[in-house]
Amino acid sequence: MVNGGPPLVDRFGRIADDLRLSVTDRCNFRCVYCMPAEGLRWLPREEVLTFEEQLRLVRLFAALGVRTVRLTGGEPLVRADLPELVAMIAGALPDVDLSMTTNGHRLGELAEPLARAGLRRVNVSLDSLQAARFHRVTRRDDLPRVLEGLAAADAAGLRPLKINAVMVRGVNDDEAVDFAALARARDWHVRFIEYMPLDAGHEWTREQVVPSEELLARIDAAYPVRRADEDGPEPAVRYLFADGAPGSVGFIASVSEPFCGSCNRLRLTADGHFRTCLFALDEVDLRGPLR
Ligand code: 5AD
Ligand code: SF4
Repeated sequence: MVNGGPPLVDRFGRIADDLRLSVTDRCNFRCVYCMPAEGLRWLPREEVLTFEEQLRLVRLFAALGVRTVRLTGGEPLVRADLPELVAMIAGALPDVDLSMTTNGHRLGELAEPLARAGLRRVNVSLDSLQAARFHRVTRRDDLPRVLEGLAAADAAGLRPLKINAVMVRGVNDDEAVDFAALARARDWHVRFIEYMPLDAGHEWTREQVVPSEELLARIDAAYPVRRADEDGPEPAVRYLFADGAPGSVGFIASVSEPFCGSCNRLRLTADGHFRTCLFALDEVDLRGPLR
């Protein structure tokens, strides 16, 4: 164990060693399956943990065996001075694998400072490679910016670079092969995520879920793939291109083949509430005792 602490084991024998740290609840996009056009009722500033508070909690989690920390949001890069938090965590806990999930909008300016501060990798959420469709899904006309952000992350060495695409039937599932082509062309790792019933608007229907099996078959017909033979705690099942082209495609079958039995995740909300599952009904306030 990196920091010598006792592991966080639950009553199912799962060891939790992966922390998702939400640094803000705000976002500069309004993806239709995530937020209403007018946004949400954001947390008041004083309820959001400070960088010092976040570092203190991350240190405690690391002492309990957490080895990977992923910064999330909302959109983490709308939080001011985020490279500072990255430098604080990377400086205090150099063994922690520190990464971020972002919508890519601000990566053009921030990829380099983030890499310099000690961020290792990014996952960029990108659901469509078509400008008009990207605009419809995110309610922002910013596909070119996100593509620039991806290039900047790559240039800054935030690799392996992963793209997360949530596939929704009838919305963007016809782009699976285009995403695979992008992965091959750029040596990027595209992961297709099944649409989960998490949406605030309760618009989710089972018919909109595109089973990973189906996407795999479509991609394999265009570019034959073979299963990569790693088997980590990652929920994505990864495939390499049989012709030796770089990049990969991965499938996160959260709905059709739930991976709860091997889940290793912990979550800390922007206002300091601790929870395990995305679908958890209860959470524990850590900010109160901390302050
Ligand atoms: N189902 C699957 N993925 C989702 N995300 C947001 N809402 C859903 C949902 N209902 C994804 C985002 C991003 C990541 C942080 O979570 O698209 O890739
Ligand atoms: Fe923002 Fe991500 Fe939600 Fe889209 S899915 S509105 S980018 S938090």
